[in-house]
Amino acid sequence: MRLRSTRIPEDTVHHPVFARFYARMSVAAETGAGLAAVRAELLSGLSGRIIDIGAGNGLNFAHYPPEVSEVVAIEPERTLRQLAVRSALRAGIPVDVVPGTAEALPVKSEAFDGAVTSLVLCTVRSAERSLTEIMRVLRPGGELRFFEHVRADDRAMATTQRVLDRTVWPLLAGGCHTARDTLAAIERAGLTVEAYRRVRMPDRGVRLPTSDCVLGVARRPTAVG
Ligand SMILES: C[S@@+](CC[C@H](N)C(=O)[O-])C[C@H]1O[C@@H](n2cnc3c(N)ncnc32)[C@H](O)[C@@H]1O
Repeated sequence: MRLRSTRIPEDTVHHPVFARFYARMSVAAETGAGLAAVRAELLSGLSGRIIDIGAGNGLNFAHYPPEVSEVVAIEPERTLRQLAVRSALRAGIPVDVVPGTAEALPVKSEAFDGAVTSLVLCTVRSAERSLTEIMRVLRPGGELRFFEHVRADDRAMATTQRVLDRTVWPLLAGGCHTARDTLAAIERAGLTVEAYRRVRMPDRGVRLPTSDCVLGVARRPTAVG
């Protein structure tokens, strides 16, 4: 049902130092930066089969509602994937952790009621290809839940983000880019953004180049217009 017959390269993303850093920092941010509450809101109301893309160490898993019948969690980075497997064992719903990338999801078309990206479309090599893949694997009417940091609204921070993206940031942060206009990319892919709100992360304290986030839902149209 799940996997295509093609062999999946297991280490197409290799950021072992960042992975170890993220594994520690993300756990602290759950309560310290208000991320647990954001994850709960992101995933609330989901049901059926869900694909969680770039699942990291699996911090979303604990927040899936019981109406979710199965989560297929795609994670290309080996260290994070191993941690995700551990999180899957503790999750209250069935979670299958699978190697793969967002740009070439190793799953069948129209197989999912929902897709989730949290802090991932900043990091994938191609947000466009990833979103085309998300369109492919969602059933018509299926939804994408997204929580992503994005290009800032104000010129000063947007300029800082652009400079960082061209210099040190992707190297230091596992390929992350701070200045992507992810909402526009979601719409360009053919998904309809139904609702979103801007969120600041961390929810208090100093503003970071990754503080400007969007949390929302987009839907694959039921018919091509
Ligand atoms: C900042 S972490 C976010 C992890 C998790 N979604 C969360 O909410 O904590 C970014 C994740 O994207 C993964 N990633 C990087 N490139 C990817 C790609 N091309 N396809 C899918 N995931 C990717 C990384 O390995 C990492 O797990």
